[in-house]
Amino acid sequence: MQKSKSPKHSETIMTEVVFPNDTNPMGMLQGGRMVQWMDIASAVCAQNHAERICVTASIDVVKFKAPAKVGDIITIKAKITRSFNSSMEIFVQAWAKKVISQKAYLINEAYFTFVAIDDDASPVAVPLVKPSTEEEKSEYAKAELRKTARLLNK
Ligand SMILES: CC(C)(COP(=O)(O)OP(=O)(O)OC[C@H]1O[C@@H](n2cnc3c(N)ncnc32)[C@H](O)[C@@H]1OP(=O)(O)O)[C@@H](O)C(=O)NCCC(=O)NCCS
Repeated sequence: MQKSKSPKHSETIMTEVVFPNDTNPMGMLQGGRMVQWMDIASAVCAQNHAERICVTASIDVVKFKAPAKVGDIITIKAKITRSFNSSMEIFVQAWAKKVISQKAYLINEAYFTFVAIDDDASPVAVPLVKPSTEEEKSEYAKAELRKTARLLNK
């Protein structure tokens, strides 16, 4: 029987600090750096679920909701919504926090798709996802529709 794992098992929280080298001339965090951090957090999440090396297959619409500035603390949360055969959808959100005010706000979110690969870099089956909370169940159900739309645009 195919193994199933809770989304909690692989949930990944990553923390970064915005340094001048991460920013544009206005001191705002660059989009590419943000996506790189989100890619790393979601890769860790996918690999802990799959217990395999995983590659990024696609990134859905990345929404830059608000800017982060030099010195802000960035928290990135990556959580698996559903696995299919070899692919997994990971929902990633990022928040920025001001050190002095301790005010945190959502700056970015996106869905990443990772594919688990074997030693020959061929896709390989991964464990199922077993959602338990209402939110996990809702994300799990909607993931199928998102996958269909994603592959139509491939
Ligand atoms: C992702 C990759 C492994 C898929 O290989 P492939 O031979 O096209 O595999 P298949 O067509 O058999 O599809 C395998 C799975 O990938 C999914 N997939 C393929 N292309 C996809 C895309 N663009 N978006 C989302 N999922 C995709 C398929 O839906 C399938 O999922 P399932 O097994 O859960 O049903 C391959 O395209 C690849 O290696 N791409 C480069 C990855 C990379 O370099 N990433 C950056 C570095 S990490």
